[in-house]
Amino acid sequence: MTKDEQGYFLSFEGGEGMGKSTQIAVADKFLCAAGQQLVLTREPGGTPLGERIRDLLLDRDNGMQRESELLLMFAARAEHLARVIVPALEAGKWVICDRFTDASYAYQGGGRGMPEARIKLLEDWVQNGLKPDLTFLLDGSVGVGMERVGRRGERDRFEQEELDFFQRVRANYLQRAREEPARFVVLDAAEPKAKVSAALIAKLRILLAAREQA
Ligand SMILES: Nc1ncnc2c1ncn2[C@@H]1O[C@H](COP(=O)(O)OP(=O)(O)O)[C@@H](O)[C@H]1O
Ligand SMILES: [Mg+2]
Repeated sequence: MTKDEQGYFLSFEGGEGMGKSTQIAVADKFLCAAGQQLVLTREPGGTPLGERIRDLLLDRDNGMQRESELLLMFAARAEHLARVIVPALEAGKWVICDRFTDASYAYQGGGRGMPEARIKLLEDWVQNGLKPDLTFLLDGSVGVGMERVGRRGERDRFEQEELDFFQRVRANYLQRAREEPARFVVLDAAEPKAKVSAALIAKLRILLAAREQA
């Protein structure tokens, strides 16, 4: 398949309240206006089975082993890839995913202390080399995110974690961005919405231009 026919896989990452949903809506609007076909989806979830797994993962009443949590994340991801992401990319569409495997490294690895090698094993197995083409990491202090999420009502199983959990999540995301600078674009989530959107759109323009030339 030529580059032209293959779609483009974008993921948005970052802690709670960093502005992923907000900026995904901006990217959606911009890319649609540019005549692109896109699929918006999220993890965990994105398929009927995946959304059921999401409910299990987020439900505060479900205590679970961190191993179970990681395996459920990848079970949902296997469905998501097979039923949504790969077909959309093969059809030449853009896929915009609200969190993907970087979140498994950040939350189950950084947050819960699961060995990175174990996550990598599952990534290789389930994804067979497929990764997002580009990942926007919305990075800001945990305090900023918590202040924004605090306005959202009841907290899910992850949102009720302690401050240091989210600090480890953030540090892990930043570490990954440093390790793969070509894939990651780090956006300063503490900036006003319009400023974050401007940086996002500037990058999307470059991507579109590069795809048109290919
Ligand atoms: N740059 C920003 N500055 C101030 N508030 C923001 C910013 N980005 C998002 N918000 C607000 O913070 C809250 C969480 O944003 P959201 O996009 O839902 O974050 P996420 O999807 O990462 O959890 C929302 O009320 C949103 O309007
Ligand atoms: Mg969101």
